Amino acid sequence: MDKFIIKGGRRLTGEVTISGAKNAAVAILPAVILSDEPCIIENVPSISDVNISIRILKEMGADVEFMGNNTYRIDPSSIDRYCVPYETARKMRASYYFLGALLGKFNKARVSMPGGCPLGDRPIDQHLKAFTALGADYNLSQGMIDLKADSLKGNQIFFDVVTVGATMNAMLAAVKAEGLTIIENAAKEPHIVDLANFLSAMGANIIGAGTDVIKIKGVKYLHGTTYSVIPDQIEAGTFMVAVAATKGDVLIKNVIPKHLESITKKLEKIGVNIQQFDDSIRVWVDGPLVKTNVKTAPHPGFPTDMQSQIATLLTLAEGTSIITENIWEQRFRYVDELRRMGADITVNGKVALIEGKGKLMGAPVKACDLRAGAALIIAGLAASGVTEIEDIFHIERGYDCMEGKLRALGADIEKISVPETQSKSEKESSKEAV
Ligand code: EPU
Repeated sequence: MDKFIIKGGRRLTGEVTISGAKNAAVAILPAVILSDEPCIIENVPSISDVNISIRILKEMGADVEFMGNNTYRIDPSSIDRYCVPYETARKMRASYYFLGALLGKFNKARVSMPGGCPLGDRPIDQHLKAFTALGADYNLSQGMIDLKADSLKGNQIFFDVVTVGATMNAMLAAVKAEGLTIIENAAKEPHIVDLANFLSAMGANIIGAGTDVIKIKGVKYLHGTTYSVIPDQIEAGTFMVAVAATKGDVLIKNVIPKHLESITKKLEKIGVNIQQFDDSIRVWVDGPLVKTNVKTAPHPGFPTDMQSQIATLLTLAEGTSIITENIWEQRFRYVDELRRMGADITVNGKVALIEGKGKLMGAPVKACDLRAGAALIIAGLAASGVTEIEDIFHIERGYDCMEGKLRALGADIEKISVPETQSKSEKESSKEAV
């Protein structure tokens, strides 16, 4: 079992480069299945969720070559299996993108239901609504989702909730469907636009991605392309908060500042200085941190995936802050761990009240999901003394060499391997999904 050991209290300074976006990569890699020729995908982050996506592609028969420098060449023409088995699908929530991609290409798909997860109820009714609107039948049995269609036909799809996953899956299933598909109440996250740009680069006809109405005219053939995944908005935001928490001064490179607007605005309210350049931002703190209130919302609102990190920063600020979590019902599970480090946080339903104390103390803690793990790293960097973080496999699902990047900024963080049989939580990782 690997752990992070952090000796806190060091300012982060210098430069860091952000990797490709996890939530774009885990959709773009399955989307390659739709291509009728090989594709080259660049700026793919080195994280375990990507490794799982690559493994699934290979198991299906795709010819995948790692070309170095975060680049993969994927030839989907040899795919002859249309199934993602339980053993692989359970490890990654985003395995559901194989449903849309396989259905869109072969008119059939068989994918294990994504496992339970620690963020609360994660239904897939809207995904199924999209597939059936396009003409597919589904069958749920023995933990597997089977999709089948004689042919796919464009249709109007209205989502009852704003959902990233179902919007992406509807796009994947619709790009080759006959006629026009109109997706209404679509999600607008940067990774939706990135998937649309990738599909368009292969010859798809998509307009409106990034707004709440996406129109797709089906095409028969998608050609190969070379495409670079966008920088990770949440990794960038996590580093912004880590710099603020240590009162540091860092140039964060390979970012799209527009994608960071909601995070930037909140950090400025808290007292963090931010200077934007074309594809980098400088973040520094030279005064006190002050309270603020945060409500999570779909893009362009404040991302739920940054909620635990900003909450950690607010424990270091002066005054009482209120956080309202509007997306995931169980996204306050990190609070118990932060309390062990001296944080004063009270949770009532979807609202957390944070009494800023200005300091945290090191303690042994456990990551319970990806972003909770990121929050604990930030807490450990800012705390006095030593913080030991267990179950860091959650963090490695979504952050590319987090400890190496932090060390280069001056943090005292090391990863140690504790020789032990697989931890109970690791064994149950099927229940985690990001
Ligand atoms: N929802 C439904 N029915 C559905 C699908 C979603 O009711 O069929 C509800 C969910 O219960 C939730 C809301 O809609 O309350 C939003 O869920 P969404 O579908 O947008 O989430 P997701 O696609 O499963 C992605 C990210 C998450 C991120 C959310 C929200 C990926 C692989 N995951 O999940 O990322 O929190 O969007 O932005 O893209 C993370 O990176 O840490 C992470 C959890």
